[in-house]
Amino acid sequence: MKVVFPITRMRRLRQPNLLPLFQEHALRKEQIIAPIFIDETIDEPKPVSSMPGVYRYTVDGAATYAAELHKKGIRGVLLFGIPYQKSDTADAAFASEGVVQRSISAIRDMVPNIVICTDVCACEYTTHGHCGIVGDRRKRRDVINDPSLDLMEAIAVSHARAGADIVAPSCMLDGVVAHVRLSLDEAGFEDTLIMSYSTKFASALYGPFREAADSGYIFGDRTTYQLNPANGREAFRESVLDAEEGADILMVKPAGMYLDVLTSLTQLGLPLAAYQVSGEYAMIKAAAERGWIKEREVVLESLLCLKRAGADLIITYFANEVAGWLDEK
Ligand code: PBG
Ligand code: ZN
Repeated sequence: MKVVFPITRMRRLRQPNLLPLFQEHALRKEQIIAPIFIDETIDEPKPVSSMPGVYRYTVDGAATYAAELHKKGIRGVLLFGIPYQKSDTADAAFASEGVVQRSISAIRDMVPNIVICTDVCACEYTTHGHCGIVGDRRKRRDVINDPSLDLMEAIAVSHARAGADIVAPSCMLDGVVAHVRLSLDEAGFEDTLIMSYSTKFASALYGPFREAADSGYIFGDRTTYQLNPANGREAFRESVLDAEEGADILMVKPAGMYLDVLTSLTQLGLPLAAYQVSGEYAMIKAAAERGWIKEREVVLESLLCLKRAGADLIITYFANEVAGWLDEK
């Protein structure tokens, strides 16, 4: 007997009025976090040349900008500070009157309900631009791990004390999540969350950020603490460790080129954040400015695909624009 199979009509699902019924993932404004750069040395907003549309703000400017974002439905901000004074020991990073600490209060006063996340790292505050204390490691100048942990604890506690909801260690030091967790608890901040930059690659896509945050390094590179982009299993292990150390949220950074890693982390059961970094932003902006791609479509696609791959939270410099676009749809 000859069996004839009917053609499987996948296109039945794609008729215009039926298409939305089968959409598996969607972007939600409430899950988008906007990075904000706050510069203590300026009196008015200063554009970041390699990131058109992104500015460094004053403390007051940051509060106004956060209020604007919140009004548009963006519920979370991630703060980065540029201090007056850099030093080898990054003292300005944990000062109670430091730029991020003052910004937290200013934002909290203006928008009580906004979710304030803070980057916990030293690179904007050190003279050499590395993410911790630099010393001699087997005859090479490098970030030394354990002495830098005290610094991260001090920074995280100072942010929590100023009123941060979520602290986000981005230094890629071993043991930082456990240390920060214990210090927060000891200081009475057991309800402050830790969003660990748990799987952060040594990426060439951070270039524009280093202009934005004035955090470029003057010797070496970050490959002795950030991950090798070639390594998927090691990337997974980094996040497993941070989960064990008590992280509340794990993160993959950069986002778009590391979707396999993001998907692999979904099995850990923790909320996941994906950080669409400065270079990803700059590439889209540059092509769009030339008219080679449609900005809105590419941005929404790039973010939606992060959801499909497993992200809950999305950190993106397009936050403000996306909030507007999602309203129009
Ligand atoms: C600081 C930090 C960096 C980014 C976020 N936190 C830069 C770096 O590690 O060199 C990059 C963000 C971006 O490129 O948008 N450790
Ligand atoms: Zn850093």
